[in-house]
Amino acid sequence: LQRYLKKLWEGLTVKSIDNTYHRPVLLNESVEHLITDPNGTYVDVTFGGGGHSKRILKQLGDEGKLFSFDQDSDAALNQIHDERFCFIPQNFSALKASLFLNGVTKVDGILADLGVSSHQFDIPERGFSIRFNEAKLDMRMDLGSPLTAKEILNKYKPEQLADIFYWYGELHESRKIARLIENYRLNQSIETVGQLKEIIKPLTPSKKETQFFAKVFQALRIEVNREMEVLKQMLKQAEEVLKPGGKLVIISYHSLEDRLVKNYLKTGNFEGEAQKDFFGNLIRNFKPETSKPIIPSPTEIEENPRARSAKMRIGIRL
Ligand SMILES: C[S@@+](CC[C@H](N)C(=O)[O-])C[C@H]1O[C@@H](n2cnc3c(N)ncnc32)[C@H](O)[C@@H]1O
Repeated sequence: LQRYLKKLWEGLTVKSIDNTYHRPVLLNESVEHLITDPNGTYVDVTFGGGGHSKRILKQLGDEGKLFSFDQDSDAALNQIHDERFCFIPQNFSALKASLFLNGVTKVDGILADLGVSSHQFDIPERGFSIRFNEAKLDMRMDLGSPLTAKEILNKYKPEQLADIFYWYGELHESRKIARLIENYRLNQSIETVGQLKEIIKPLTPSKKETQFFAKVFQALRIEVNREMEVLKQMLKQAEEVLKPGGKLVIISYHSLEDRLVKNYLKTGNFEGEAQKDFFGNLIRNFKPETSKPIIPSPTEIEENPRARSAKMRIGIRL
């Protein structure tokens, strides 16, 4: 057992050192914008492989503090051994309460690097990727949560399925996809990635198969992990815990998330409807630091193709 544990530990250590767990995106840019006081308190709500967290710690002084969240127990294995660091194994929807339990009510900056890590994507059993046909349709970031993609595909009503594909995958063929799923599951249960791809294949546009599958998978992943809902909860709580002048730095990877973040930072609501007071001033608690999102350089995208869809927005707490 001891030898096995030692091997496991060595494997994990090597993983985090050579960046195969996850290669952080917009690393310099995000941390540069985030830190306003090197001895302040910061939060990384999406720890993953700890790339961003390590860089934040590097920039912090002796009095600085970093609290990092992740709902995936695999990420917990990357924890950093540093007195200034505290790992919180929770969904970031519990941001305010979890910080409070750790004696923190106000922070200087919050970083969110949304979505899944390369590790989650590359491990077939997690079911996030369209590459592994034999993989089970799981897609949970939190392995303790009860809802899997398999459950959704086999149990949701066709109208519910169509809504997910329409709203979260932005797929116009959403009803047709739902109908194919409904017909298939009359005879057998949908278990694997390969089965799902086979079911929806008749609707695949020629030469755009990968993009089509990716949208269907994205839609299911968002539903499994309640991604839009928890993002809204986190944004609202970020507003409550950030000190005036503190920064909220959000990196998103698809237009639904980016739209939500953009609207919230600009107008204070998710719909993006500007509200003004009696004197015509905007009622909002954040001011966007830049009018356009910051995107990775062509060199970064070349070195790390998964960075290609990243958009970073920064809000300053007013
Ligand atoms: C894109 S990765 C972050 C990578 C990280 N910045 C790094 O440098 O390695 C996203 C991570 O956030 C976690 N995550 C996503 N949504 C979350 C949520 N609602 N609560 C807690 N963790 C979440 C995922 O489990 C995943 O490990």
